[in-house]
Amino acid sequence: MLIDTHCHVQMRQFNADRESVIASAFSSGIGRLIVPGTDVPTSESALELAQQHPGRIFAGVGTHPHDAETLTPEALSAERALAQRPGVVAIGEIGLDYYRNLSPQDVQREALVAQLALARDLDLPVILHNRESHTDMISLLRAHGDGVRGVFHCFIGDRAMAKDALDLGFYLSFAGPLTYPRNEELRDVSAWAPADRILVETDSPYLAPQSLRGKRNEPQHVAHVARTLAETRGVTDDVIAAMTTRNAIALFRLPELTPETGV
Ligand code: NI
Repeated sequence: MLIDTHCHVQMRQFNADRESVIASAFSSGIGRLIVPGTDVPTSESALELAQQHPGRIFAGVGTHPHDAETLTPEALSAERALAQRPGVVAIGEIGLDYYRNLSPQDVQREALVAQLALARDLDLPVILHNRESHTDMISLLRAHGDGVRGVFHCFIGDRAMAKDALDLGFYLSFAGPLTYPRNEELRDVSAWAPADRILVETDSPYLAPQSLRGKRNEPQHVAHVARTLAETRGVTDDVIAAMTTRNAIALFRLPELTPETGV
């Protein structure tokens, strides 16, 4: 069993076939999905999916750095209320993106700090988006992230960046880019990272793995990421499945697996 720890199946790209995409994931051995929001409406729709698939789909509530300007005080209190509902396991996705800069950087930083505080208050892990913003991310986590746990989602970086995240107690989640030919350095990081700090994800509908590049990504393709991780670490697919599932259950405090169904 694998857990796709980051997929946006609530988004419009899945409007035509959402339930069949979810059913294919479950029937192909993806036992659970974590669906992060990127603003209040998509956090609400993630929670709806969690309510429709209890024990199988879990939601994140958060405002993405691209949408940081939408995080008004009202939106933040809406997040606080949503995040206390059953089925919500994280504050996310939140973070910084200095590559696209769709919201001003100071607004992104403010939104991140506010949501780190929310995560601490509610004792929930954070799902972090971090693009071309590593220095500020690490310094904000050092200054404002005390007692906050979480994951660097779709980790792309070198060993030094990974070490910064690991030293703060964070997990690293690998996605489709792990499978791209040019990303030798990332595969090196994935081979070296501690076994108890690694997760896998798709970031569906984005970041399809190498053999499906250009197509819409979906949760069942997390198996490609897990396969590459097995190759880089020189272990079996079963070892990767057990390791990453255990880690996801620990970080997001998911219910334990049921012995009958294994999910
Ligand atoms: Ni995402």
